[in-house]
Amino acid sequence: MEIERILLTQEELQARVKELGAVLSAEYAEKTPVFVGVLRGAVHFFTDLMLHFPHPCQYDFIGAASYGDGTQSSGQVMLTKDVMTDLQGRHVVVVEDILDTGLTLRFVTDWLKGKNPASLKLCVLLDKPARRRADISADYIGFTIPNEFVVGYGLDYQELYRNLPYIGILKP
Ligand code: IMP
Repeated sequence: MEIERILLTQEELQARVKELGAVLSAEYAEKTPVFVGVLRGAVHFFTDLMLHFPHPCQYDFIGAASYGDGTQSSGQVMLTKDVMTDLQGRHVVVVEDILDTGLTLRFVTDWLKGKNPASLKLCVLLDKPARRRADISADYIGFTIPNEFVVGYGLDYQELYRNLPYIGILKP
């Protein structure tokens, strides 16, 4: 498989992540939020975003998997790792790479809501609304993208391409 074209350059990603950091800073400066990154795709987005949040905050991570090896969701979501932080009464921001069918984030946010946070919001780098199957939308969105399978900046195809510094579209 090869990259057909670049959808978002490293510079575009960094500029938008900085803007999102400023939006989160305005809202959460006084709230000591818990940022919960969804493993593994959100890894680069999470760490870059946090560098633009210069206020007290905590990190945690949750693991969820819905895709097999292909580019289509199996529809089955599995929790592969739970958070370690007590979220009761806390302001939680879930940080994820992409909102596609929404099945993964529906599952993850329902799971986290069960821990009684004071608030729970969703920040995604990419939104692919064309394929939505679950009733869910993000509170903070980096880019709305067309219905293409993308890789890079944390996103994989068969566990490869996560380390590309840009987001590209795979050749079919
Ligand atoms: P959803 O449950 O369909 O919303 O999918 C969420 C997960 O599927 C994401 O966390 C990604 O890991 C994966 N995914 C969805 N779309 C893409 C894509 O275009 N490229 C790579 N992974 C994707």
